[in-house]
Amino acid sequence: MTHLRIASFFSSFVSSLNCIPTMSQALTTTDLQGALPLVARGKVRDLYEIDDKTLLFVATDRISAYDVIMENGIPNKGVLLTLCTRTWFNALKEAVPSLRTHFITLDLPPQIPESLRPVLQNRSMQVRKLRILPIEAIVRGYITGSAWNEYKKSGTVHGIKVAPGLQESQAFPDGPIYTPSTKAEQGEHDENIHPDQAAAILGEYASTVESLAVQLYKVAHEYALKRGVIIADTKFEFGVDEETNEVVLADEVLTPDSSRFWPKDSYAVGRGQSSFDKQFLRDWLVAEGLKGKDGVRMTEEIQQKTAEKYKEAWEKITGGK
Ligand SMILES: Nc1ncnc2c1ncn2[C@@H]1O[C@H](COP(=O)(O)OP(=O)(O)OP(=O)(O)O)[C@@H](O)[C@H]1O
Ligand SMILES: *[C@@H]1O[C@H](CO)[C@@H](O)[C@H](O)[C@H]1NC(C)=O
Ligand SMILES: [Mg+2]
Repeated sequence: MTHLRIASFFSSFVSSLNCIPTMSQALTTTDLQGALPLVARGKVRDLYEIDDKTLLFVATDRISAYDVIMENGIPNKGVLLTLCTRTWFNALKEAVPSLRTHFITLDLPPQIPESLRPVLQNRSMQVRKLRILPIEAIVRGYITGSAWNEYKKSGTVHGIKVAPGLQESQAFPDGPIYTPSTKAEQGEHDENIHPDQAAAILGEYASTVESLAVQLYKVAHEYALKRGVIIADTKFEFGVDEETNEVVLADEVLTPDSSRFWPKDSYAVGRGQSSFDKQFLRDWLVAEGLKGKDGVRMTEEIQQKTAEKYKEAWEKITGGK
């Protein structure tokens, strides 16, 4: 019997057989039944403590939009995000050998009982526990979303003056820009800030965070472009290793949850782009008047379409199954 609560009443039976998930079998919350202490639940991840230096970082199938978590999930999304992040850690380390990441292994620790392993495998990583820096290190290569809205009003992006005359979705002519935001407490909204404000918050770590974020974005952008995907923007999180005082790349990286991925084939400036992410879900929430409301259940169609988009992004970038 599985000890994980799954959003379907026959799911424990199904998951014990390790069947291909259908829409009703998303893992929306984990319960390790005391195998490891729970440290925190984020919007998507459940964090458990393995020892005082190590966490088990478990990606559920939860999905959030406009900062609200949906009642039901996207089956297998957590596996996809985990394997996607692992692929990127490898690719980034190859390009930037001095990079340190929080990743240790996809292997489950010995404390996890046999009965929980099939469900947790591939959606969990052991990571180095870090002091997370309170900034979302966003890098934008193209002008879109909230940045485009600000630019139309004031000619700036996060208060940074940028070249006049840009069109929607155009690449920034002088290369990608670092546009940090605050990391809001649960239930609050992140706030876009100027890099100078981020520097005041981060102190001695500020310049490392900024230069690493931009460097990693450039590496990833080039890597993805070869595979037909434009990474319009992405968000990194960094932490500090308290033992060595080093800045370490943490969290998920370059997933459809933390990035805007556009298909290169259909890219054109002067309009918004279709993207490999939760745009379907967002559009549906707005159309149904459900934007920002709690306890929303996605229809099967929305689940299906969202699942397809995530899978498509994953397949393009990893070239894999
Ligand atoms: N190596 C690490 N050590 C400690 N915390 C980490 C590490 N890597 C990531 N985190 C934190 O784990 C959480 C990941 O969970 P998830 O992605 O679900 O959260 P979120 O909804 O994005 O953020 P929040 O915690 O603000 O709700 C984030 O708060 C992130 O900052
Ligand atoms: C985990 O993913 C790998 C591929 O990366 C696959 O071979 C393996 O069967 C998966 N394991 C489980 C339990 O899903
Ligand atoms: Mg997160």
